[in-house]
Amino acid sequence: MLEIRPGEVAGADLIVVPVYDDRVFAAGEAYVPDRDASSRILDAHEFTGAHGQTLFLQTPDGPTPEVLLIGLGDEVDAESLRRAAGRVTQTVRGYTTVATTLHQVDIEGAVGAVVLGTVLGAYSFDEYKSDPKRSKFASLVLAGGDDLEGQIAEAEAVASGVVLARDLVNRPAADKPPAAIADIASGLSRRVDVTVYDEDAIREAGFGGLMAVNAGADRPARMVVMRYTPDGATRTVAFVGKGIVFDSGGLSIKPVSGMETMKTDMAGAAAVMGAVKAIADLGLLVNVIGITPLTENLISGSAQRPGDVMRAYNGKTIEVLNTDAEGRLVLADGLALATEYEPDLIVDIATLTGACKVALGPLIGGLFASDDDAADTVIAAAMAAGEKMWRMPLESEYASLIESDIADMKNIGGRWGGAITAGLILAEFVDDTPWVHLDVAGPARADKAEHYITKGGTGFGVRTLIEVARSLA
Ligand code: BES
Ligand code: ZN
Ligand code: ZN
Repeated sequence: MLEIRPGEVAGADLIVVPVYDDRVFAAGEAYVPDRDASSRILDAHEFTGAHGQTLFLQTPDGPTPEVLLIGLGDEVDAESLRRAAGRVTQTVRGYTTVATTLHQVDIEGAVGAVVLGTVLGAYSFDEYKSDPKRSKFASLVLAGGDDLEGQIAEAEAVASGVVLARDLVNRPAADKPPAAIADIASGLSRRVDVTVYDEDAIREAGFGGLMAVNAGADRPARMVVMRYTPDGATRTVAFVGKGIVFDSGGLSIKPVSGMETMKTDMAGAAAVMGAVKAIADLGLLVNVIGITPLTENLISGSAQRPGDVMRAYNGKTIEVLNTDAEGRLVLADGLALATEYEPDLIVDIATLTGACKVALGPLIGGLFASDDDAADTVIAAAMAAGEKMWRMPLESEYASLIESDIADMKNIGGRWGGAITAGLILAEFVDDTPWVHLDVAGPARADKAEHYITKGGTGFGVRTLIEVARSLA
């Protein structure tokens, strides 16, 4: 585990010093002795202080043997600081104790940004490596500043939530049966009460969408309800996360390449778990209900067939014409269940449609909302968190696309606007509760490491959900 603490520079192997564009030092200029010699080296390496630029300097006369300059560019906000810290972390893998003045950059929340960028940038998933290439980086010393401990601990709680989500997503599907995920949810925090519906309880309750998707799988489904209800909280937010531990498409089977990364299809559930844990650790004064329908979407003699009809928890029926559009079926139950807690706001998060990934690419989540207030709440939270979301329309004229000949609706809407028709189906299960749907099919996973994002599961959405809770607290 990476240790982060305030302390003295002396004794560190390296100090990281931030530099704005045009080589204006942001904080810690004094740690770069012999400025003439250094400036010749900066010239030679064309180091300007552009965002993300790095340069090592040997400083035998300084308090540390080496200095690492990190460029911040000309405009610094919390997100660019997180990214700079993440970039540093991926650069200092050979150093054990690293000091820095990055957190002294003069913006609101600098300490938290540096801690978050550092912890997330240092993340790796080594469980299955016999001989992992471990980073030596073990300890970050924040040089200068008073009473940093509280801010460090807060950012560490947020980072732990993201790390939990990344771990859950990166774990192979074979090793994350729904029952195992439910067990992890049960042990999240002593401040969180957890109810797990097993297969019998699922049948009894009538979670027909979850049962329909689970029909082709040997490992039974679980519906998990996590409740964090601190004394004195007056408002309630419900989070619902898609938890398909593997999506083969079912009988409407996916092509080979489309299936490769489908262990990621429980990233919504993972985000909800990470957020609930972090919110409880932070002790935010708001009631949070986290709901995760968990199953895999597989194929067998008992699998659901195209043309079958399922009845969701709220009694509405869906004709399943494509078994690969399974997320909306399990979310139908999860959303209908969420309304029973009478929350002020429901936010669901799901790797729901390839269409959304096509529309917005791998870095941006699609945001659909029942009303402008709900949208504004979540957009503001996403901005504060540094997660990119773009509002998409729930166009009511497209409702005709999901009309079924024999049931209340069908589960696909045709070739065009697939992210929207998916959202319109979900809307049938939230009644009048203010609601936001986040389609994270793109950003839930990254093809390459960059700043504090590591390859694989990203934990996208955890920080937005935490900020939503914070804004209601
Ligand atoms: N899990 C997929 C969506 C997905 C695709 C997530 C790519 C991440 C990357 C979802 O269950 C799915 O297969 N959706 C179908 C819906 C279609 C059949 C209406 C899709 O997007 O193709
Ligand atoms: Zn699918
Ligand atoms: Zn899916």
